[in-house]
Order: sequence, then structure tokens, then C-alpha cells
Amino acid sequence: MFSDFPIFPEVASTIAGRVDALYFFIAAVGTFFFTLISVLVLVFAIKYRRRSEDERPAPVHGSLQLELVWTIIPLILALVMFAWGANLYVDMYSPPGNALNIYVVGKQWMWKIQHPEGNREINELHVPIGTPVKLIMTSEDVIHSFYVPAFRMKMDVLPGRYTSAWFEATKPGKYHLFCAEYCGTKHSEMIGSVYAMEPTEYQDWLSRTSASSASMAEAGEELFAQLGCPTCHASDSGARGPALAGLYGSTVNLMTGETTTADDSYIRNSIIDPTSQITQGYAPLMPTYKGQVNEEDLLKLIAYIKSLALDSSHSVATEDSTKGPLESNE
Ligand code: CUA
Repeated sequence: MFSDFPIFPEVASTIAGRVDALYFFIAAVGTFFFTLISVLVLVFAIKYRRRSEDERPAPVHGSLQLELVWTIIPLILALVMFAWGANLYVDMYSPPGNALNIYVVGKQWMWKIQHPEGNREINELHVPIGTPVKLIMTSEDVIHSFYVPAFRMKMDVLPGRYTSAWFEATKPGKYHLFCAEYCGTKHSEMIGSVYAMEPTEYQDWLSRTSASSASMAEAGEELFAQLGCPTCHASDSGARGPALAGLYGSTVNLMTGETTTADDSYIRNSIIDPTSQITQGYAPLMPTYKGQVNEEDLLKLIAYIKSLALDSSHSVATEDSTKGPLESNE
């Protein structure tokens, strides 16, 4: 609507127009009541001014009707804003299941991006339009915040954990990327560009810029071998560590009796602080890899373990036939 008006950023994602609509609604309600109240203050000040020294106005005893009007109308308006905002919030923070995963590592003072295909970029992010993109983000040092105004998308990027955000670009173009959390001397230089491209151009870009043929999962597999992980995480029974095939997304029974889901954060934590969550039936033997693997390497290891989950889903047959053997195991 106001895309040519310079104080409003471009509208370039599926969510952007909806964010603006809510913003304009709240701004319109605010402007209306500000104007109404300002005018009434002036009008009443003049109309009910004291006209002589001995004037004594009649006492006011209130009006139930008036009380109801100025309670119910604002209540309805506030509830509309709440419901509208809550609905939008849920959509903004629930990435669609088919989203393309792209990994972001923030550090003082740059954005490092990894695509699952293995492409890496710094302070630039190339994405296809018409496809939901989920960013999985972490920081190597302090808190940063990944902000793309044209997509109305902003998410804090925290050290020691993963946060995620998603968007679907609708319009090809080059858009600003900012760090929106003060993170030190060159915070203001921690900027970049997001390039939204037609899907075919994006595929061209991927194949044109892939530095090596290794995908993130393949690079992770290499690292997995280098670090000696297969020694304990062999797939045969009797291994010292749990087998990792099919782990990603599954439910893990911990020694403490609790259960947890093997998501990105769980795997990261298992590498950095293994004794904090020992799988039931295993001894706390695993050493920490803190300091030996950086955030980007961690993401590669996770991508590798994720790919093992995909592999296992190929070999494990469909729902119907898995039911029998699974139940007989219990
Ligand atoms: Cu990173 Cu400000």
C-alpha cells in the first residue's frame, strides 16, 4: 500500500502485507482517539469555562450509559487487536513443514550462511521466491538479531542455542539485512543483503557458486570420521554410544527417566555437553567436543545426523508394516 513511501520498507514476503495491515489498523484507532480526545479537551475547556468569580457549577452524578460506552468500545477494539495479533504471531512463528532449511551463524561482525547443498556465503543470503525458507540460527559470541525489514522478519540470534524464523519471499529483488541487536563496535557494519530470486535462477546460483561438491551432510560425515565419532557410535549392537541412524526427530529416553525429542538443540548439546543428557542404557563416557568444533561444524554434524534419519526412513517400510515388529519389540 505505502511501498513507495520511503519510511515504509518494501512489501516482499507473504507475511509483510498482513503485518502492515495490523499496524495501520492500530495506528488508525490510535489516531482517531487521539484526535477525538484532543478536540473534546479543547471544546469542553471553552464550553465549560468559569464565567464569573462566584459561579458554582452543578455537581455531576455520573452516567451509567456513558460508563458502559467507554468501557465496551475500547474492550472490543483491544480484543480485536489481540485476536488479530495472536493469529498473525502464530503464523509468523510456525514454519511450514516443507520449508527449505538454511543455517545462519552470527559473529562479531558478520553473518555466515550455509545452504544444505554446501554453498556458503557471508553477509549475503540467496533464496528462491515462492518457497518457505526456515532459518536455523546461532551465534559464535554475543547476541545478534537477524532483521530483514522487507520481509517483516526479525529474530534474535543467541550464543549456545538455536533459534529459528521463517519467511516466504514474494518478489524478486535485493533487500537489506541488518543486525538489530547492539553487539559491539561494528554493530552498525553488521549488515548484508538478501537476494530473492526466481526458483530457476536460484538453482542456477546454487550450481554456479558451489565451492566444493560436498553438501553440508557430506561435510558433516567427513568431520564425524575425523573426530573419531564412529568408534563409539557404530551401528552394530554392543557399541559404547547410541546408534545415530533414525535418531533425528525421534524421542529419546534419558537416564534420568525423562524423555526428550532429538532435535537440533538436543544434538548440539549432546556434542558440547554430553553428560548433561545421557541416553538410557549407556554410560557417561563421551568427552565434550566443546572448543574442538565451531558453530558451523556443529551445523554440519547435525546435517549429517539428520541425513541418517532420512536414510533410515527409506529402509524402514511404510507405517502398516512397521507396526508389527515395533510392537513385538516391546
Ligand atoms: Cu550483531 Cu549487532
